[in-house]
Amino acid sequence: MKAMVVYDSAFGNTEKVAQAVGQALGAPEDVKVVRAGSVGPGQMAGLTLLVVGSPTQKFRPLKTITGFLKGIPGSGLQGVKVAAFDTRATERDIQKVRILAFFVSIFGYAAKPIADRLVKKGGDLVVAPEGFYVADTQGPLLEGELERAAGWAKRIVAAL
Ligand SMILES: Cc1cc2nc3c(=O)[nH]c(=O)nc-3n(C[C@H](O)[C@H](O)[C@H](O)COP(=O)(O)O)c2cc1C
Repeated sequence: MKAMVVYDSAFGNTEKVAQAVGQALGAPEDVKVVRAGSVGPGQMAGLTLLVVGSPTQKFRPLKTITGFLKGIPGSGLQGVKVAAFDTRATERDIQKVRILAFFVSIFGYAAKPIADRLVKKGGDLVVAPEGFYVADTQGPLLEGELERAAGWAKRIVAAL
């Protein structure tokens, strides 16, 4: 198996989730965890699995992630299993600001648009997009989220 977890992270929380997902997916020689801006040419060749993760900022993935996804050729993910995750504020924090709750109800979070884009490029989505929660804008992640991320990754492995 050749797998890659591509992520970006403003404050380090999504990076921690990406590393936890990568570790749970398999051995380091099979699984590369790479920041979106550092994906080298040819690194995508022969991938079995591509997982993409971003912090949710303004209801969307970071521009570096959207840019990475746009750079994948039209049917470039044909035959590749794909999955997407984000990190995000808790429901409770969002409900504290009424206007924010309204926009979230319309625009949602980053994971779904990432998954949609991966599928559009030919990828085979193996698990539902998932969100992992941070306690505040800069984190930390809520307790247990890294374990939940590892569990999510194990479900991906089971679906390969
Ligand atoms: C400018 C900005 C906009 C944000 N917008 C959202 C949002 O729309 N929805 C949400 O759930 N969290 C939002 N957040 C919280 C981020 O999701 C949180 O900072 C992120 O998960 C932390 O991950 P990171 O350390 O990898 O950057 C926002 C944070 C920033 C800084």
